[in-house]
Amino acid sequence: MLTSKELRPAKGGQTKISISSQELRSKYLKFFESKRHAIIPSASLIPDNDPTVLYTTAGMHPLVPYLMGQKHPAGTRLANVQKCVRTQDIDEVGDNRHDTFFEMLGNWSLGESDAPDGVGSGYFKSEAIAWSLEFLTDKKWLGLDPKKLAVTVFAGDSDAPKDEESANIWKSLGVPEERIGCLPKKNNWWGPAGKTGPCGPDTEMFYWSGKTEFPPLGSNPANDEDNWLEIWNDVFMQYNKNTDGTFAPLKQKNVDTGMGLERTLVALNGFVDVFQVDTFWPLIQTIQDLAGKEYIAGGQTTRSMRIVADHLRTATMIMGDDAHIAPSNVERGYIVRRLIRRAVRHGEMLGINKNFSSIISEKVIEIFREVYPELSRNREFILNEMAAEESKFRNTIEQGLKEFAHLLGGFQTAFEKTGQRITEISGKHAFKLYDTYGFPLEMTQELAIENSLTVDVNGFETAFKEHQDKSRAGAEQKFAGGLADHSAISTRYHTATHLLHAALQKILGPHAMQRGSNITQERMRFDFSHPQKMTPEQVKQAEDLVNAAIKRDYPVSYQEMSFEEAKVKKAIGLFEDKYQAKIKVYTVGDPNDVATADVSSPTFSREVCGGPHVEHTGLIGKFKIIKEEAVSAGVRRIKAIVE
Ligand code: ALA
Repeated sequence: MLTSKELRPAKGGQTKISISSQELRSKYLKFFESKRHAIIPSASLIPDNDPTVLYTTAGMHPLVPYLMGQKHPAGTRLANVQKCVRTQDIDEVGDNRHDTFFEMLGNWSLGESDAPDGVGSGYFKSEAIAWSLEFLTDKKWLGLDPKKLAVTVFAGDSDAPKDEESANIWKSLGVPEERIGCLPKKNNWWGPAGKTGPCGPDTEMFYWSGKTEFPPLGSNPANDEDNWLEIWNDVFMQYNKNTDGTFAPLKQKNVDTGMGLERTLVALNGFVDVFQVDTFWPLIQTIQDLAGKEYIAGGQTTRSMRIVADHLRTATMIMGDDAHIAPSNVERGYIVRRLIRRAVRHGEMLGINKNFSSIISEKVIEIFREVYPELSRNREFILNEMAAEESKFRNTIEQGLKEFAHLLGGFQTAFEKTGQRITEISGKHAFKLYDTYGFPLEMTQELAIENSLTVDVNGFETAFKEHQDKSRAGAEQKFAGGLADHSAISTRYHTATHLLHAALQKILGPHAMQRGSNITQERMRFDFSHPQKMTPEQVKQAEDLVNAAIKRDYPVSYQEMSFEEAKVKKAIGLFEDKYQAKIKVYTVGDPNDVATADVSSPTFSREVCGGPHVEHTGLIGKFKIIKEEAVSAGVRRIKAIVE
């Protein structure tokens, strides 16, 4: 693990407090442990059973069922460090603060209780705010100067009233009124993580980042946004956003907080940018060596180095997840592809013209392997996929760039002839760059911007759709920008994955374990370990067995038990990633009998899982396998529908 001493001193910044990422993670968890929170592990970056988003974007995301009222096995006070990916600001990466992978420190209260600070009981605004301030300012913890802190609260609108209560709590704890800003929903309302779900007003904490030592009188993030750096957000989740856009009170009042690890390290160490944080800086150093250029050069050099470091860090973290997401043309894989290809182009711009992405990946694994052990488990997969994607793109990037230059030349000639300047790249041209040279649309857009041009995105989509390509369905989903919603159909698919999992283990053997699953309103996908293609007979057997289990109309129920008990009961599922204290185990059939995946017996399957599921299997409908295919070495994928 890197220590703070190995950090590069901030250029132009004052290093007031020296703290490493590991020290911050550990302080945060210790603090909330002292406030009687259970520490839970980071969940996967790939949301389990939430088809509304591609990646886990916040610590609360894996906790949605518990924020909605289900009982969490570890209790009502939780804290953790969660790996997150947000790609909506991908084009902003290159400035001093945007990144696409980040770690979120979070604490939660699941339901307010009557006895506010009883053992393990839930809490709400007063405790959440008081603890946030204590952790930030107490010398025993972070020791930030209270004179450099400011907060914002929700200003109120027709959906919910102004959050006077939070403002008063801050004041009662000594935060001056001039440092409390009020902002509308756009700023001070958080969630839901997908299209629907828990959300509510929030209060955000900021640290002074202006040029003067202390903020001037009256300055706060509501009136002086650019000089304040947001570091922590306490959300008071008391509403559910419905599909029609309305807000309904939740059954319980929850607290959901999120502190950005990288940004807080910037504030604590007085860094000038997020790339000086110890989970980034070794990558920048490696890129400097590979490029033979200095990070501090500024301009395009600094920007490209940041893009390479950020994108390859994120791609490595995604591929390092046990779900084994590889670069591809659709959905999650497309994000990975975009990240790697953009990094390769910016590597080229830095003068690195040999394969380098797996060198950076190795560093990422080294930086994070103690915090996220799955990176070591998946090391080979990451490095192989990274190198393969880079090689594939290197075969075409040069030709593609020539094609682009040729296009610009054509524009110039046309201008000389007609006096009319062409300012837009047609959809057909953008599609050619995509289809023939592997340029993601976003890369063509970036090239266009660099040359003061735009791209006809609608035209691109039309060309794309017209193209009779086998990846058509996936691509449409990609351009729709989101996936299906939470619904009864997702629940049916989810229970079907349990039946299929049990059936595959019965037919192929116990090695056929789940490696990932993805559900939309139209279909389910289920990835599992198996060394070769399934025979058509095996596929038919699996389909028949699932349908027989549906026909038998088994009841579905869950029991909470310890990890050990679940093992004794031979529950299948991804044990390593689940909560350690108590876990939920879903049984299809009789919870007191042995699961056999045989419809002549009372119990069909038993699996570790968070739910939700249908109440009895007859509700699933008819199950049909559409396709069985390879995902990567040793991993197969089944696509299926229910009708
Ligand atoms: N879920 C909240 C956030 O991401 C804490 O800011």
